[in-house]
Amino acid sequence: MTTTERSSTAPVQQLEIARGCPYSPNAQHVEFQRQGRPVEVALASLTPGAPVWAVSRHADIHTMLTDHRFSADRQKQGFPFQVDGQPGNFRRTMISMDGPEHKDVRRSIAGEFTLKRMRALQPRIQEIVDDCIDAMLARPKPVDLVSAFSLPVPSLVICEQLGVSYEAHEFFQDRSHRLLLRDASAEARLRALDELLEFLSGLITEKEAEPTDDLLGRRIVKLRGEGTYRHEDLVRMAFLLLVAGHETTANMISLGMMVLIERPADAEVLRADPGKIPMAVEELLRYFTIAEFIPTRVATEDVELGGSLIKAGDVLVALCNVANRDPVVFPEGDELDMQRGARHQLAFGFGAHQCLGQNLARMELEIVYSTLLRRIPTLRSAVPTSDLMFKHDADIYGIHEFPVTW
Ligand code: HEM
Repeated sequence: MTTTERSSTAPVQQLEIARGCPYSPNAQHVEFQRQGRPVEVALASLTPGAPVWAVSRHADIHTMLTDHRFSADRQKQGFPFQVDGQPGNFRRTMISMDGPEHKDVRRSIAGEFTLKRMRALQPRIQEIVDDCIDAMLARPKPVDLVSAFSLPVPSLVICEQLGVSYEAHEFFQDRSHRLLLRDASAEARLRALDELLEFLSGLITEKEAEPTDDLLGRRIVKLRGEGTYRHEDLVRMAFLLLVAGHETTANMISLGMMVLIERPADAEVLRADPGKIPMAVEELLRYFTIAEFIPTRVATEDVELGGSLIKAGDVLVALCNVANRDPVVFPEGDELDMQRGARHQLAFGFGAHQCLGQNLARMELEIVYSTLLRRIPTLRSAVPTSDLMFKHDADIYGIHEFPVTW
């Protein structure tokens, strides 16, 4: 195979971000995948001119997310603007760390997200879901599923886990939303970020005075005991978990229910046999790949990747949505096949930074889909689904509002 080098003069294509069809990857990304190698693109609003490579094949994304020569350190020169800051104005979380530093931070918190821990949480998540359904059923119809259900469920769960008062949900949901809006200016996004950090800093100061039995309180006690406690570190960790923990799952709840409403035969199969729901969750995660541009890396040395020569300092963006349709791994990948068994799907990323909250997200989605199908079998969209406003403008894909009735 010949190796393609980046161009020094020829104009490169702008990477298209919005999905054309709400159910499909962007056509440009499909074309990149067909070309069979990483393609050089421009990312006008996101990066100050550093060369950027769009990586679209499943195998190349695997390499990109596991090879230590591709760094997640957003402080490195040329890294695209991301939710946790930009060079010179930087608030670092584990998602931006490499090697042993990342491993240490991640290991220190991983115990809070094990499968065992999630199983223990299951009854409480079920209770939260049932309460939110009761509240929704008590409202006049139609109801916006997003604000009445999809957002409150994961927000309540992560709030309880962290020990953040749910009363503040309007504040942090609003700021998270603004932080993830692509069309907002860098200043507006940074303002939202700072306000969130300030809110969490105040909360953590209270917990320092009187540690509570929740994730944040337990960390204060543990790290103080080890002599390694730092207020700022915990604020940033809380920020990452709070934002990553509700907006993502909320969007998957809405999109998954939209599809189940549109496909009554699939809904019936799952209602009759809830044992099939975990596989359906995996397929829905693959099919929508809502965090499709989140895994980004920067090369620390020259590397040949899938037939392209990536130079030290070049940025790579993983096009996870189209990679989750890569025919080499997912035959008929444009089809939604609830019993496909979509192992190896990349919706949670891959490698060292693969989503820390994936066990929690899966459990929430399983409980939500099974309970909504059982408790509101007549749930339906109150508008044609072609009228829904999809989040083509946000870092995390989803639906802005979803009016439903029953
Ligand atoms: C459907 C729901 C979710 C999706 C699609 C999702 C997606 C992702 C992706 C793609 C990454 C990898 C980023 C990279 O490689 O740079 C990631 C990382 C992460 N996610 Fe999630 N996520 C979800 C839910 C959650 C939840 C519920 C939590 C926490 C409570 C969470 C916490 C995190 C954290 C802490 C990381 C960083 C891990 C690290 O850097 O080692 N996520 N997520």
